[in-house]
Amino acid sequence: MVEHERAFVTGGAGFIGSHLVEALVERGCEVVVYDNLVSGHRSFLEGVDCTFVEADVLDVPALEAAMEGCDLVVHSAADPDVRVGVEDANRHFEQNVQATQNVLEGARKEGVETFLFLRTSTVYGEAEELPTPESYGPMKPISTYGASKLAADALVSGHAHTFDFDAVSYRFANILGPRLTHGVVYDFTHKLLDDPSRLEILGDGSQEKSYCHIEDMLDAVFTVLDWEGRDRFEAVNVGTDSWTSVTRIADLVCEAMGLEDVTYAYTGGVGAGRGWKGDVKKMRLAMDTLNDLGWTAERSSDEAVRSTAEWMAKSVA
Ligand SMILES: NC(=O)c1ccc[n+]([C@@H]2O[C@H](COP(=O)([O-])OP(=O)(O)OC[C@H]3O[C@@H](n4cnc5c(N)ncnc54)[C@H](O)[C@@H]3O)[C@@H](O)[C@H]2O)c1
Repeated sequence: MVEHERAFVTGGAGFIGSHLVEALVERGCEVVVYDNLVSGHRSFLEGVDCTFVEADVLDVPALEAAMEGCDLVVHSAADPDVRVGVEDANRHFEQNVQATQNVLEGARKEGVETFLFLRTSTVYGEAEELPTPESYGPMKPISTYGASKLAADALVSGHAHTFDFDAVSYRFANILGPRLTHGVVYDFTHKLLDDPSRLEILGDGSQEKSYCHIEDMLDAVFTVLDWEGRDRFEAVNVGTDSWTSVTRIADLVCEAMGLEDVTYAYTGGVGAGRGWKGDVKKMRLAMDTLNDLGWTAERSSDEAVRSTAEWMAKSVA
């Protein structure tokens, strides 16, 4: 296991960030969480032995002061909502590109050893090759969110090589699990709470994507972090080798909530049955790096959806 003493986690009060914080603490790391709570929750870190700093990654002096003494940086803070880009073209640039530059600069000044960046499969756009390998190109994102993550990823690679620290960029499929605060399983559960007889489904329901459980994701993150043969910069796909359609997700959510006879109302969507502009219709990742390291996800895409839907049904009951 590669040892780090003090980790700095941006977005550490968010869905994925809070699980990473817990796992780092369990590995014996001191952890500083840096989060402006725009979508994160202090309660996600209840009982977790960490330092919490409530501030924005765009606040450079606060960011650099909080990073003092850290040897590992995990950059999870971002605006992950693809739909925001349609209304505000600058939002993803500011929150995902400028913010990443700020965190990289802080890491450089602090002399950190390792930088972990949480990226997304949306950088691939509508890939012609499925499952999409890490070597796929050219990447043509179809949302400002995907574009901003691709730009930020390039910054991470450039900084790692220029300033001699190690970096890993994880390209996640859709991550699901306890504490989920957004996304299709969350939306369907809440819509059905409001009206258990009818479910509005954005798009035509045929969108098929790979869903990965947070426990598998954590295992993947640490498998790569502990890999001693890592290059200066590694870009690693993380997901499952199966996928789930949106209509199937609706079925699994209804099942978890004990609902029968729900009428599905498809909106038809934007262009070719997409849920919204920038919605990638089919996504599945080839996990070459992780498979070579002996890692495969324990749960299938359907299992990740089912267990999260069951957790969510209980948590809203
Ligand atoms: N959830 C997924 O399926 C998924 C898939 C691929 C990639 N990702 C990436 O993983 C990361 C975490 O996603 P998540 O699902 O946990 O989202 P989330 O919204 O739960 O977490 C983001 C966290 O960052 C914080 N934050 C946002 N802007 C900030 C700012 N300017 N300054 C300080 N803190 C800020 C929020 O308060 C929140 O706690 C993101 O970078 C996202 O792009 C997520």
